[in-house]
This record gives sequence, C-alpha cells and structure tokens, in this order.
Amino acid sequence: MSSVAGRTLVVGVCGGIAAYKVAGIVSTLVQRGADVHVVMTEAAQRFVAPLTFHALSANRVHTSLWEIRDREDHVLHVTLAHRAAALLIAPATADAIAKLVHGYAEDLLGAVALAARCPMILAPAMNSSMWEHPATRANVAALRARGWQIVGPESGFLAERERGVGRLAAEERIIAALEDAVARTHELEGQHVLVTAGATREAIDPVRFISNASTGAMGIEIAREATLRGAQVDLVLGPTHLDPPHGARAHRVESAREMHERVMALREGVHVIVAAAAVADWRPAVIFVQKVKKEDVDPMLRLERNPDILAQLGAAKGAAFLVGFAAETEHVEEHAREKLARKRLDLICVNDVSQPGIGFASAENEMLLLWEHGREPLERASKREIAARIWDRIATLRGAERAHEGEA
Ligand code: C5P
Repeated sequence: MSSVAGRTLVVGVCGGIAAYKVAGIVSTLVQRGADVHVVMTEAAQRFVAPLTFHALSANRVHTSLWEIRDREDHVLHVTLAHRAAALLIAPATADAIAKLVHGYAEDLLGAVALAARCPMILAPAMNSSMWEHPATRANVAALRARGWQIVGPESGFLAERERGVGRLAAEERIIAALEDAVARTHELEGQHVLVTAGATREAIDPVRFISNASTGAMGIEIAREATLRGAQVDLVLGPTHLDPPHGARAHRVESAREMHERVMALREGVHVIVAAAAVADWRPAVIFVQKVKKEDVDPMLRLERNPDILAQLGAAKGAAFLVGFAAETEHVEEHAREKLARKRLDLICVNDVSQPGIGFASAENEMLLLWEHGREPLERASKREIAARIWDRIATLRGAERAHEGEA
C-alpha cells in the first residue's frame, strides 16, 4: 500500500505551462488513496481551470485567502497546513520560489507554505536561463537549506522550443519523493529525541573566548530530520548564526558546562540522544571579570577539563539509543571504534577532517558510520541527506535491537 493512502496532501500549483502535468500527479495521488487538497495561485488559473483539480481530487480547490468558509476550516491556510502530511509545490516558478524565500503570505499558497511544518517538496519548472540565473540559484539554495526537498527540474524539450534544463521532473519522481517523505513521517512518532549541536564558547574574559569552527549545521540537520520523521525534538545548541529547525525546541547555550547542565536536565525519558556538538574539551581555569589588558597578565592561560557529556551519558546508560560524532585526522576507523566502545555508544558517525571540504563549516559531508558489528560509508552529500541516512541507520539498528529483545 502507498504511504500516502489515507493521508492529507496539499498540492500548490503555480502559473507555469507545466501546470497541466500536475493534473496527472493529483490523479495518481488520489488513485493511491490520498486526500488531496489543491491550492492554485492566480497565475495557475490562467493555465488550468480549478474545475480540473476539483474533478480529480473531489475536494474544493482553494484559490483565495479571502473566501468565507464554514467553521472547521475558518482559518483555511493554517488548517490546511496543519492537516497536511506533505506539501508539494509544482510547477514551482521562479517567481513563486523567490516569494517563498522571503516568506510572502499575500496569497493562499504563500500563507500555507509559511504555516506548514510537514515535509515540503518543490518541483521547479521554468526556462533554463531563468533556472540558471544566480538569483534563482541562490533562492533554491536558501529553500534547500531551510528544509525543502527540490525534485528536478529535468533537461529536455522546453516550451520555448529549445532544449535545456527546466522541465518539470517526471511524475514518477515527484510521486516517489512524496511517498518517501510521507513514509518517514511516522517513523519517530511518539519518540523523544535529544540532539546537541554547534561549538561551545569558553570565556576568558567578558569579550574573549576559546571555541572551534563548528557551525552546528550537521546537528541542526539531524534535529530537522527527526522532527520531519515525527519525533518530539529538543536541540541543545551552542552559539551559531544558523536557525534551529521549525518544530524542534531549541535551548541556546554558550559553554560546555551550560550544555552539560541542560542535557542532564532534559535526558529523562529520551529515546535517542545524538551528540553532534563539538564540545570544547578545555576551559580557562579562571574567567577574568574585567577585560584583560595587554599589560595586565603574564600570557599563560591555565586550562581545566570540561565534563565529557557523552561519556557521562554512556556511563549511566539507560534505555536511550546513544549516537556520538567524531572528527578524526588519522587512523580514523581505529580511533572511532575505540570511542564507540569507551563511551558505550550504539553508533558513531565519523568525519575524516583531513579531507578538504568535509566536516566543520562546509555544506557537504562524507561520513563513516560505525556500530558494534558493522560499518557503513556514506558518500559525499549535503548535510541534509547525510542526516537522513543517519536516521535510516538508527531506525535499522533500533529495529534489530527491539527484535532481539522480543526474542529474548
Ligand atoms: O572524544 P571526542 O571529543 O572526540 O568525542 C566526540 C563526541 O563526544 C561527540 O559526539 C561530542 O558531541 C561528544 N562530546 C561531549 N562532551 C565533551 C566532548 C565531546 O559530549 N566534553
């Protein structure tokens, strides 16, 4: 059975010639048992009549923020957004993409997209020169960074009678992306996940600190993916310019000791803990109350050890599935396996940071996952995709654990 059967899907149609192809997509989704609600922009209605989608979906087609409605959907954009198991926008035009980036909510589709917390899939279609324009590239990258999954466009014959990249992705690809996204939304339902992310800052005086290059991006993606899979997520986040994902409860901390305290206060009843933070191992033994003057001190910093949060979680190991991270520059697998055992982890995700473009502050990652009886190398991919693969692995290992307990 398709994962979309019995689920509510919102399909946003924008004004591009590929709008007619979305009729086929809606029809297929309905045949697979989905309850499909179509939202059309004004421009979309110039290409396809709302009646087409009404006939296919057997639901009222939504075209305006301003229609007065019955009681249960009186705040339509919020009701639709919250009922949706997934939101698909197809064809996503250059204009619609630009508006999504800036959070415009002047029409119904913009408002629904802002209110949605479900997996969101964007299937762009436009002329290749518009697709390749730096403005569109930057806009698409911004949406991707915010959690949108981008499907296509594909290359082929365009409406302008030329060949190029810009065709709406094939129906099967779009449907497969929706089915995958919806299938995952149940995986962590009822589960409580705790994630640490980012660097910590260890104060020297009121304006100086010791820290490292971690931006928290990997941990933020781990937290985002967990929320998309239905978990309740607490994210303990060190200082970063990045935003925590929608739907996760963010706890901002500065120092390792604050991170430690917060994690210990939150860990009760948690099912999975992922420690992706790059915690400073050392802190200055003395924090100066006033800014230190050049002339003031002998330039020696005395350091003392920070608590190892993950090792403490491992030592007091309860039922939680424990995932650690490691950044290594040599003997990568050997060092990571030693850490897996010493910190009593169920899984460790290792970066070989001696390679360029990997790990800290980079958009992509390449990892090796290690657990007691196995390993899985993950090829270079966006941190978003790596996060999804990590959760897939956690699901498999926890499933095996539960099956084993069931047998015992
Ligand atoms: O021992 P090492 O610092 O390489 O271990 C890395 C792992 O341990 C990461 O998962 C990191 O989040 C966690 N860690 C921690 N507290 C520390 C140091 C590391 O939780 N003080």
